[in-house]
Amino acid sequence: MTKTIPIVDAAQLQSSAYHHTPGHPDPVLSQVGKGTPTGEYLRRYWHPIALASEVTDRPQMVRLLGEDLVLFRDKSGRPGLLYPRCMHRGTSLFYGHVEEEGIRCCYHGWLFAVDGQCLNQPCEPEGGLRRDAARQPWYPVEERYGLVFAYMGPPEKKPVLPRYDILEDLEEGEFIEIIGGGFAGYADHVDEPHVPYHWLQNWENIMDPYHVYVLHSTFSGIQFAENFKILPRVDFEAVDGGVIYRAWRDLDEGKKLERVNSALFPNVSAIPMIDLSPGQGRWIGWHVAVDDQHFRGFFAARTRKPGNFAPFKMHNGKSWKELSEQEKQDYPGDFEAQYGQGRVTLHGEEHLATSDRGIALLRRQMKQQIAIVQQGGDPAGVHFNEAEALVRIRSGNFYTTSDTPEPSAA
Ligand code: FES
Ligand SMILES: [Fe+2]
Repeated sequence: MTKTIPIVDAAQLQSSAYHHTPGHPDPVLSQVGKGTPTGEYLRRYWHPIALASEVTDRPQMVRLLGEDLVLFRDKSGRPGLLYPRCMHRGTSLFYGHVEEEGIRCCYHGWLFAVDGQCLNQPCEPEGGLRRDAARQPWYPVEERYGLVFAYMGPPEKKPVLPRYDILEDLEEGEFIEIIGGGFAGYADHVDEPHVPYHWLQNWENIMDPYHVYVLHSTFSGIQFAENFKILPRVDFEAVDGGVIYRAWRDLDEGKKLERVNSALFPNVSAIPMIDLSPGQGRWIGWHVAVDDQHFRGFFAARTRKPGNFAPFKMHNGKSWKELSEQEKQDYPGDFEAQYGQGRVTLHGEEHLATSDRGIALLRRQMKQQIAIVQQGGDPAGVHFNEAEALVRIRSGNFYTTSDTPEPSAA
């Protein structure tokens, strides 16, 4: 005989999935294309687009903020990022050949420098009498920390490419190790060049210290460090250029751990060491929007020895790629939790709670910056002279005694 679940009250009736209307992504938070509020805001900053070592004299197609572009390095060593359709008659510069001075379109040989300037039109009289006026659409690129950064916003608003104090003034024996294309430290997470969900789902996770207590300390086993099993007291704070949290944990023998983590506009993270080793954080991450449904992570670590980005060992010493689908279900990690939200999460279905106040604050602050851009202002973290463009990172794991007072921990 079939058993039915007895209906006890009206609230239970209403919670039937039959009555559920699917929610929608927040249109402001979810779109990165040109002309959209977040798209225009993101275009006011520099974004890493590739590892410097990936940019060679073989042209490649890249996607950033929903735009497809051709990226190459001319034979003089300068990186270039051009609109791919040749301004002459539209052939893709992906099929162009790179020369000393730029890239030459395969169809009729127009040669473009990395700043789009047409240098030669071989089928035209005298190599193109009007070539000086011909300019392929282009974006500025700069190299730093072993990464190639692109600026895709209004040229008159181009800021200085920022520096991060923890990646500067390297001492003898130190170097910067970088990774790109993977999913944070899970470098082997996806076979696709881009991680298949919305960039914000990955970036805002930085301001979610509570998931470490559950996801990374129970579901995935002790993934990072034993002491993440302790539920922290957390204080979130809007700071100039982003949002930080301070999470306190009482440890054995009267010791206390203060973990400070930073999310900086528009998509930067400075995550303290995840093994809870003491001291200032040494990583900078960029959670770059490829389009509305994909992102690419880039990370740079100040270090004395390589191997900072070796794939995590997840379960039974296996890396994520080596896990079966069933093992991923049994021991889910960040990818499962964030991809599980969907390609673009349905913000309208969320029920933010006390532990989400970091997420709520980050989104609020981000929307404030978007509004500033819409009103013609400059968003936080954008600077136009070198002296101001040094970002001070507060992140770290700081060990004190339990007598050390905590400010306003909630
Ligand atoms: S289409 Fe590129 S040179 Fe003609
Ligand atoms: Fe996580």
